[in-house]
Order: sequence, then C-alpha cells, then structure tokens
Amino acid sequence: MQKFENVTIFNHPLISHKIALLRDKNTDTKHFRELVEEITALMAYEALKDVPTKKIVVETPLESCSQNVVVDDSIAIVPILRAGLGMVNGVHMLFPTAKVGHIGIYRDEESLLPNEYYCKLPENIKDKICIVLDPMLATGGSAKATIDILKKKYGCKKIKLMSIIAAPEGVDAVAKDHKDVKIFVSALDRQLNEKGYILPGLGDAGDRLFGTK
Ligand code: PRP
Ligand code: URA
Repeated sequence: MQKFENVTIFNHPLISHKIALLRDKNTDTKHFRELVEEITALMAYEALKDVPTKKIVVETPLESCSQNVVVDDSIAIVPILRAGLGMVNGVHMLFPTAKVGHIGIYRDEESLLPNEYYCKLPENIKDKICIVLDPMLATGGSAKATIDILKKKYGCKKIKLMSIIAAPEGVDAVAKDHKDVKIFVSALDRQLNEKGYILPGLGDAGDRLFGTK
C-alpha cells in the first residue's frame, strides 16, 4: 500500500484487543454490537480532536471559570447503511448532539460495485464536518460513492471517514481519489479475497451486527 498523509492507522493496545474479539467467529451479536460501539468511541476521540470549540463561562461550586466546549452544530455523522449504523452510538457517546444523515448503499455481489438506494441528510450539511462511518473498507467503492455524493450533490467540504477494518486496496482507492478526506482505520488487513471480503477480516459486518445470517 502506498503511504498517504491523509490516512491514520490506529496502533493502540485497547483497540487491538477489542478487534481480536470482534474478529472471533464465536463472538455473538450482542457482544459484536457492543465492541463496534466501543471501538468507534475510541477512534472518535482521536478523529474529532480538531472539532471547533468555543469558550463558555462555568460556575463551579467555588468560582467561575472559562472553559472550551464543542460547538454543537458543527458535525454530522453519516453512517453507510447498514453496517455503518453500528458505529453511530460510539460517536454519540462522545458527541451526543451530532446530527445523523443516512446513506443507503449496497455492494452488488457479482460486480462489487456500489448501488445507492437511500439518502437523507441533515439540513445545512455543507457547513458541517461530515464523518462517514462504515466498519468495513473493502474495495472502497461504497465509501468513495458516499464521499462523491456528499461533495458533488451537497457541497460538503470537510469530510472524514472512519472504518474499523480496511483492506489496502480500499485505503488506496479512497485516499488517492480524495486527498482532502482524512481516513481513520483501526486495523489494516492483508488483502481482499475473490469475493471482495477482507482477509483476515471479520466476515460480513452487517450480518454480524444485525444477526441476519
Ligand atoms: C459492506 C460494508 C460496506 C461495504 C464495503 O456493505 O458494510 O458498506 O460492504 O465494501 P466496499 O468497500 O467494497 O464497497 P454491504 O454491501 O454488504 O451492505 P450491508 O452493510 O447492508 O450489509
Ligand atoms: N463488507 C463486509 O461486511 N465484510 C468484508 O469483508 C467486506 C465488505
């Protein structure tokens, strides 16, 4: 994989530990969902470190002080349906007022090309920092299509992508096409198989989150 300045691969023992549990085929749906949320929250702590802040005055029991707080309306999270939904609570744990936009994209099983079937985004999304959420970055087709929609149809200028597990092919594809988009990945895996699954990966994230298989 090429080296890109806009890509951050997490190297943290707590994240690594949780990813081991997430990969395990014996991890049940409830635990899988909890792990996706926890990993997302850990990632969001880093990915959101440059969100806009403002100063407010707070009255402590002893005196008043000024303190930086985040600007409520500054970010929108955009989960790619379905599997991205599993990451929403993880960001909301840290940024409860983040607005949520939904983009429905499924990968055609034969061609692996992305197909959009749903899009509902918050008002004024172009003025917000958009955090695209998808736990799996495989060929990169779904993430690229989402970023294209946000940029071309809605005029979004500040976009970040958070994916838990990525294949080198997917990171290359998104990072090359969208140099302005910061990409955060918790685990960079070896490769894709002939069906577009990430190896070693964790299988189908949507099915494991929602118990559909
Ligand atoms: C999965 C996953 C990503 C996409 C990644 O979605 O959740 O959205 O594949 O693959 P790509 O990088 O090659 O585009 P899927 O199409 O299986 O839909 P689902 O989330 O509804 O299960
Ligand atoms: N989507 C998944 O859910 N898993 C993969 O390995 C690739 C795409």
